[in-house]
Amino acid sequence: MGLAFQAEGLVKRYGETTALAGIDLAAEQGSVLGVLGPNGAGKTTAVRILATLLKPDAGQATVGGLDVVRDAAKVRRTIGLTGQYASVDEDLTGTENLVLIGQLLDLRRPAAKARAKTLLADFGLAEAAGRSVKTYSGGMRRRLDLAASLVGLPRVIYLDEPTTGLDPAKRDDMWTIIRKLVADGVTVLLTTQYLEEADALADRISVIDHGKVIAHGTPAELKQVVGGQNILVRPVEPARLPDVARILEAVSGRETESPGRGVLTVPVTGDSEFTEVVRRLGAERISVTELSLRLPSLDDAFFTLTGRHAADEEEVAV
Ligand SMILES: Nc1ncnc2c1ncn2[C@@H]1O[C@H](COP(=O)(O)OP(=O)(O)OP(=O)(O)O)[C@@H](O)[C@H]1O
Ligand SMILES: [Mg+2]
Repeated sequence: MGLAFQAEGLVKRYGETTALAGIDLAAEQGSVLGVLGPNGAGKTTAVRILATLLKPDAGQATVGGLDVVRDAAKVRRTIGLTGQYASVDEDLTGTENLVLIGQLLDLRRPAAKARAKTLLADFGLAEAAGRSVKTYSGGMRRRLDLAASLVGLPRVIYLDEPTTGLDPAKRDDMWTIIRKLVADGVTVLLTTQYLEEADALADRISVIDHGKVIAHGTPAELKQVVGGQNILVRPVEPARLPDVARILEAVSGRETESPGRGVLTVPVTGDSEFTEVVRRLGAERISVTELSLRLPSLDDAFFTLTGRHAADEEEVAV
């Protein structure tokens, strides 16, 4: 199978800021590439270059074998882009927005109308189709935005943080829609700040930081790098924290970390350790207000990959 898109050595500078410091990204046809990184990592910049909206200062990128700079017009005909910020017109209705886009893509009006109707139904917006977008909720806008990017039946679609700010139910709806696209053979580039989301949807993940790819692999490979899962324990009585630490360290063979007051976490490889921790907490009569086995967060991934917490980057990123 061929590559749907490929970027090599992309560099982009804004004055003093180096948004991309030479990144490589690629995805097989029909797969999902997750691009994971904190605020300011360079995700949107990379997407905009692959979408022909921005020229790189160095490096090159192709979509379906076409160069994003030299063959920009042809590339635009094969891609769909859902931006981080909604790009639909507030004053138009859902239908009007999609029909307009269809006509911009050279569809005749009846064909554009038919396509709009199908998409609005697919995205659960049939009832709201005749209302102006001003009246839509955040989740409805996201869905309309995604529908808008699909009017031209793209083979490659870029989704820039499609679920940021959505509640869990809306996020699940969006995941279902994305999975459906992939089942239809569309290649997806998905940027996200959530490891969980990349894990749920991506075949491969590139983690980026300061405009550089710092890790690449399947979700399973990446999780091994960041240390499997974490057990988190918050005892009712803070005085029992040393006992909790002793138990966690004995079971996992690793040092505990304290991500906040009164909470301890430790990385583990499987759920048998979790069962053992629960047993020992019970045996020592330590009551807890919080006890969980969770995937590493992006911050955990960052800490393991760079030795820093992602939050430390914020001041630098501005
Ligand atoms: N038009 C611009 N002018 C100046 N600096 C910019 C511009 N666009 C982006 N940057 C800077 O480039 C860096 C990368 O920004 P980018 O938007 O690609 O990050 P991101 O990973 O998409 O972040 P977020 O998660 O916040 O969307 C940041 O430091 C940002 O401030
Ligand atoms: Mg962005």
